[in-house]
Amino acid sequence: MKICVVGAGYVGLVTGVCLAEIGHDVACVEIDAERIAMLEGGDVPIYEPGLRELMARNRAEGRIRFTAEIASGCDGAEIVFIAVGTPPRASDGHADLSQVFASARQVAQAARDGTVVVTKSTVPVGTGDDVARIMAETAPGKRLSVASSPEFLREGAAIADFMKPDRIVVGTDDAAAEAALRAVFAPITGQGSTLLVVSRRSSELIKYAANAFLATKIAFINEVADLCEAVDANVGDVAAGIGLDSRIGRKFLNAGPGFGGSCFPKDTMALLKTAHDAGLPMRIVETLVTVNDQRRRAMARKVIRIAGGEVRGKTVAVLGLTFKPGTDDMREAPSIAIITALQDAGARIRAYDPEGMANARRHLKDIDYRRDAYECLEGADAAVLVTEWDEFRDLDPARMRDAMATPALVDLRNVFDPAAMAAAGFRYDSIGRSALA
Ligand code: UDX
Repeated sequence: MKICVVGAGYVGLVTGVCLAEIGHDVACVEIDAERIAMLEGGDVPIYEPGLRELMARNRAEGRIRFTAEIASGCDGAEIVFIAVGTPPRASDGHADLSQVFASARQVAQAARDGTVVVTKSTVPVGTGDDVARIMAETAPGKRLSVASSPEFLREGAAIADFMKPDRIVVGTDDAAAEAALRAVFAPITGQGSTLLVVSRRSSELIKYAANAFLATKIAFINEVADLCEAVDANVGDVAAGIGLDSRIGRKFLNAGPGFGGSCFPKDTMALLKTAHDAGLPMRIVETLVTVNDQRRRAMARKVIRIAGGEVRGKTVAVLGLTFKPGTDDMREAPSIAIITALQDAGARIRAYDPEGMANARRHLKDIDYRRDAYECLEGADAAVLVTEWDEFRDLDPARMRDAMATPALVDLRNVFDPAAMAAAGFRYDSIGRSALA
């Protein structure tokens, strides 16, 4: 099928490349001049494992092209996916829909009669109605159907999430749009993934509810972790024990410094705004947002404690900066709030991250960046592991100890074995499993 994807950011690019991979003829429209130049030259502007190779293959085989012109992108397209950004509006935290609406106007002009327009961007409930109205006003008389199909892609695993999803959600009450979207996703549903068809509004809400629920799991286990520390229990064991109940499940029960990233913080805020506007405050979601914010500062206090109650003038080594491993994304990374709190307390910060240091420069000031973990630990008075990159699992505790001025480490992802760290002479603290050694 001929498909146009508007917006070649994270979601748009992964969607476009994967749709090409399953056999469609895809045009990606991107207005950012620098980004389009990179894409046209075969470069991938984001870090996502496997994407570069997949894009190269589909370009070589002529299934995907990039253009700055919406008219060219929509030329002959039966389906148009809108995958532009919906950042939080600075004024009130509501999702900023200006890019979605601008795209809707342009698509309405450029698309041919009968096109199905699908919002893939994460948008508040009712946005599909606004998009439909804007398109009808822009191109009166043209038959355009507006559907919703939210994405559930995890950074670092986006291609697998697209190709083998737990479910595909389609929101429409138009039989022709449903048939077209079933045909688009047939190569994926043919492999066993479920396609769920619901109303457009339910589809829009599914995305926010899914992310808020996952964020609740994380906030919950983080509070259990605090309790474990107080009563000398082990959060990993508790998570295993409750996770074996199939009604609960073990996934998203890893305690840590709190959730970050481009979705959970933004989507929980946007859901709260929608609920507030509907006159129905969601108290569980309100609480989890507050709990998650406070948690980051609490993590900085753990570091201060292990450094003997004072970090003024001391050097703290930070291992891992991105909001999770497998990405270079620094958006809402817990490291930002933790580092800022430590700097406010007078600490000098050294940092190392395998992929995130270039982006980190835009979010953090006065950081001494190092080229590897041991170099980062060299002469440090205390260290904190914030992101669980695999390469940190292979670090040798004895070599770490020898590098540091004082062997004191807070492990916010429970990467290390407390007994091994104690044996190496570390003052070691982690999450939900030990009193301070
Ligand atoms: C998330 C959703 O998983 C995805 O479905 C949605 O479409 C976009 O948002 P992503 O932001 O890429 O994806 O990251 P994810 O792997 O879900 O992790 C989010 C945050 O939660 C990270 O900061 C991670 O460290 C944290 N997390 C996750 C935990 O602290 N514990 C866990 O058990 C899982």
